[in-house]
Amino acid sequence: MEIKTKPQLDTTFKNEVFKGLSSFPKFLSSKYFYDKKGDRLFQDIMAMPSYYLTGCEYQIISSNTKTIGELFRDRKNGLDLIELGAGDGKKTKVLLKYMAENDFNFIYKPIDISENAVEMLSNNLADEMPTLNVDAEAGEYFEVLDRLKGFNKRKKVIMVLGSNIGNLKHPKAIEFLSKLKDTMLSDDLLFMGFDQKKNPQTILNAYNDDTGITAAFNKNILTRINRELAGNFEEAKFNHWEVYDPETGTAKSFLVATEAMEVSIQKLGLTIRFDPWETIHTEISQKYDDKTVRWLAAQAGLRIETSFTDAKGYYKNYVFRKE
Ligand code: TRP
Repeated sequence: MEIKTKPQLDTTFKNEVFKGLSSFPKFLSSKYFYDKKGDRLFQDIMAMPSYYLTGCEYQIISSNTKTIGELFRDRKNGLDLIELGAGDGKKTKVLLKYMAENDFNFIYKPIDISENAVEMLSNNLADEMPTLNVDAEAGEYFEVLDRLKGFNKRKKVIMVLGSNIGNLKHPKAIEFLSKLKDTMLSDDLLFMGFDQKKNPQTILNAYNDDTGITAAFNKNILTRINRELAGNFEEAKFNHWEVYDPETGTAKSFLVATEAMEVSIQKLGLTIRFDPWETIHTEISQKYDDKTVRWLAAQAGLRIETSFTDAKGYYKNYVFRKE
């Protein structure tokens, strides 16, 4: 006789939600923020003046387009431009336009965890830059790394913008960087954005707006569990809470239960209990300085070739090469 203790946990999403919500303290991975609604909320976040990251990186790329583009160029064979976490491609488009107008021979391969984002970006590029050679793909960082090794016939440039690396703790970031390095040959470049340490208040404001957009974004992970895994979270009973530690440079986002409750998630066969003020940790957004970036790079076998920053020095894009 077959004994069914719990339904099959057949996707990473199910497995990770099960694990995170059965742990103490509870946690959920921020990569699950990004479904259709999450993508839209994140667009709203990027448009908030207090979320300075997007504007700074846009400024960096816009005022250094030629220098950056020419670093990427290979006159002989052209290049493969691969972007992890491409999102809406707003910042990348500045470079793509430069490259398209200055006879670079290249393909652009955007990869994003959100299928919705990948589809929107492909359609948008087909519309705005119809001659561009685009080969988009949905997938998460650690899954697509192996496939990058296939891009070794000519120069490859890997881009990771938005300080997305900041969503990984240092040991994972080093693992990620060293796996990227393993896919690189000596001519290849890694172009990556790192949000910098700054006035702690500026950082808190970026993750703690009073319009409620960030709270809705953070809570969307509960909505997604409700919809996709038949859960019954009451989003209104959770508060978004942000902390920033200026010593370590780590910003952390939490959802805090405002009262005791029980939540059941049918597709996981799981019932979880919350004590009043119990937390779910959802995201880290690491902030960096040159010293830390140099250390991470060295640990991963990469070296910094050059870097670009904005007028306020809030944000930096580094160019790495294999050591
Ligand atoms: N990756 C983004 C960041 O770390 C995501 C983000 C923006 C975020 N605001 C947030 C995640 C608030 C959780 C809570 O900057």
